[in-house]
Amino acid sequence: MRSAVIAGAGVHLPPKLVTNEDLCARLDTSDEWIRSRTGMSVRHVVEPGGATSDLAVEAGRRALESAGGGADLVVLATTTPDHQVPPTAPDITHRLGLGTIPSFDLSAACAGFLYGLSTVAALIATGTADRVLLIGADAFTTMVDPDDRGTVVLFGDAAGALLLRAGEADEPGALGKVVLGSDGSLAGLIQVPAGGSRSRSAGPVTKLADPAEAYFKMNGRETFRHAVQRMSQASRAAVAAAGWSLDDVDRLCAHQANARILSAVADELGLFEDRQLSNIAEVGNTAAASLPTLLAMSAADGTLKPGHRVLLTAFGGGLSWGAATLTWPDVEVG
Ligand code: COA
Repeated sequence: MRSAVIAGAGVHLPPKLVTNEDLCARLDTSDEWIRSRTGMSVRHVVEPGGATSDLAVEAGRRALESAGGGADLVVLATTTPDHQVPPTAPDITHRLGLGTIPSFDLSAACAGFLYGLSTVAALIATGTADRVLLIGADAFTTMVDPDDRGTVVLFGDAAGALLLRAGEADEPGALGKVVLGSDGSLAGLIQVPAGGSRSRSAGPVTKLADPAEAYFKMNGRETFRHAVQRMSQASRAAVAAAGWSLDDVDRLCAHQANARILSAVADELGLFEDRQLSNIAEVGNTAAASLPTLLAMSAADGTLKPGHRVLLTAFGGGLSWGAATLTWPDVEVG
């Protein structure tokens, strides 16, 4: 059976920065609280008027260059599409000069890139596609209440992309089985209450009883507990599916939600500091962009090397989660 093999990678962070000091200047918070509770120091954010597609086009262009060009399908994992209609992927595809090839958006919150990897692997295995540009991009700061200190400190904007081609399971860059899960009984833990069909059917969006309902809400403490449990379980299942043991894992690439969550997952799995990839201090939680951004930045700075066996895991709204394995190939990151 054909496997999905990484042929290129790219990343883009918008240049505008928001530091902990910037947040402290206008909110009741402190650098000490943010660093010790989240591990974050600075985030990149889109300029006013900017959108997810702007980040995705740049990361996609870099991944295509890294792979030597060419794709016959584009998949965008995002929580913050430019518009509710149309989907954002066709616009990205057009702006990348890829013509009229198929493209679609995929929504699984912070686990979106893993759901994307699983979808792409299946489309490549069945021969539906040969070279797929998979982009994880989010302008998540556009969805967060600027006055809510409990959430605004956590998020940044970014895009990361991989070009996946058809290949063999034993090649460097080959993706292993992707393990996925979801639990809609806990949908209320992470939510934007207004803006979808549920609130639109109740009346005009301009007449929302509480405009704050259009912003992101999260029960942080409960989410924390489920995140650790689900990422640890999925990681063990993905490692077993690959025929590896946890000792075989060279690098843990986990969704950068919170440094304390990452430590708890790593401790649970026995993957201590020298085996963890992290960019949370510089980018914060970038939702669907988190995993590809971390892979690309780590490969660029040399903490992720060709031949490293990588365990990926992510968790987010839905609830939805997953894990996967891959061997990092010898690619020049764009
Ligand atoms: N600065 C200072 N104090 C803050 C604050 C901030 N930026 N944000 C919240 N607080 C306060 C709270 O108001 C609360 O005060 P109180 O005890 O007087 O009510 C106190 O800090 C503790 O709040 P709590 O939410 O219990 O903190 P926490 O230790 O759980 O950390 C998160 C909060 C959000 C950092 C943490 O819960 C988390 O990371 N959760 C998971 C996030 C995640 O995985 N998301 C993934 C899906 S996107």
